[in-house]
Parts: sequence; structure tokens; C-alpha cells
Amino acid sequence: MAQEEESYDYLFKIVLIGDSGVGKTNILNRFTKDSFNFESRSTIGVELAWKNLIIGNKTVRAQIWDTAGQERYRAITKAYYRGAVAALLVYDITKHDTFEGVPRWLAELKLHADPNVAMILLGNKSDLRHLRAVPMEEGKALAESNAMSFIETSALEATNIDMAFESVINEVY
Ligand code: GTP
Repeated sequence: MAQEEESYDYLFKIVLIGDSGVGKTNILNRFTKDSFNFESRSTIGVELAWKNLIIGNKTVRAQIWDTAGQERYRAITKAYYRGAVAALLVYDITKHDTFEGVPRWLAELKLHADPNVAMILLGNKSDLRHLRAVPMEEGKALAESNAMSFIETSALEATNIDMAFESVINEVY
């Protein structure tokens, strides 16, 4: 792949986690390809994408790993988390159960990821204002109590997607 031949100074592995349907794949596609799919299917296995960012005078390659949130594919192994410097933990602001799933993903991170992994909590689908089931304050409070950053995003409207990745990458850098 031509993309892989480009040079870079640092390689940062970033993982996307969160329940099925919260928008992980679309967040990834918005960030790396500026695209969105209304009918995206559940991810099967693991997908990878890259994007180079210039920070200062260095090129940081963000290598982003996306996997299925579905329980039946949840044989996520240590390999998924191995070497990850940052994790984006996503819930859907219109589905409270996906927010209730956050502690389970945090426990999984604690179990498998490096203790210093930078974490950001994303409340995705902020465009669906009329369907909101998780108040922004709840998201903020949960993030604060787990020492993570927090931001609401919309992969559909491209709101705060770059910001979410940049903020977590800056935390690592
Ligand atoms: P799994 O692969 O099953 O873990 O799902 P996922 O978390 O990768 O979700 P995915 O990106 O496949 O999105 C699920 C559905 O939500 C799709 O129909 C998307 O079009 C929709 N979706 C994702 N992000 C947004 C968003 O920001 N706003 C709206 N309105 N819909 C979104």
C-alpha cells in the first residue's frame, strides 16, 4: 500500500472500543477518509486504517484499530490492545444501554491495555439531539471519575471527530 511507504517519525496505535452500533467504524471513516455510511454493517474481525498528522515538525502516523462491539465477536484478544497508546471509548448518546456498557469496556482496558494508555470517552451521534438519552453532564461525570477526557461527537456531521483524535494523540505525544 502506497500509504505504508510514506515516512513518519512516530507510529501511534489507537484502538476504538464500545458497544455495537455506537458508530466506531463511521468515526474511523470520517477521520481517515472523510466519509460516512448510513447503512454500515457490523464490523467482523478487526479493521485497520491510518492517518498521518503533523505535530510540530514531526509526522505522527495514527494507526487506528476498529473491531466489532457485538458480544458474539467479543473474543478480543490481548493482541488488539497490545502496544496501543490511546483508546477511544465510544457510546451512543441516544442509547443509554451503550453508556451503561462503558464500565465494562474500561475493565477490559485495565485488564489488557498498558496502564498508561491515554483514554477519551466519546458520546457519539450528537446530531440526534431529539433522541438524546444520555445527558452531556452524565458523560462528563463518568469521564472525570475515570480520569479520561470527554467529548461529544457526530460522525455524520463531522463534529469534533478530528478534535477527539487530536486531543488523545496530543496526550500521548
Ligand atoms: P459494530 O461494528 O457493530 O461494533 O458497530 P459500530 O460501533 O462500528 O457502528 P457503525 O459505525 O457501524 O454505525 C452504526 C450505525 O450508526 C450506522 O447505521 C451508522 O450510519 C450510524 N451512525 C454512526 N455514527 C453516527 C452519527 O454520528 N450520527 C448518526 N445519526 N448516525 C450514526
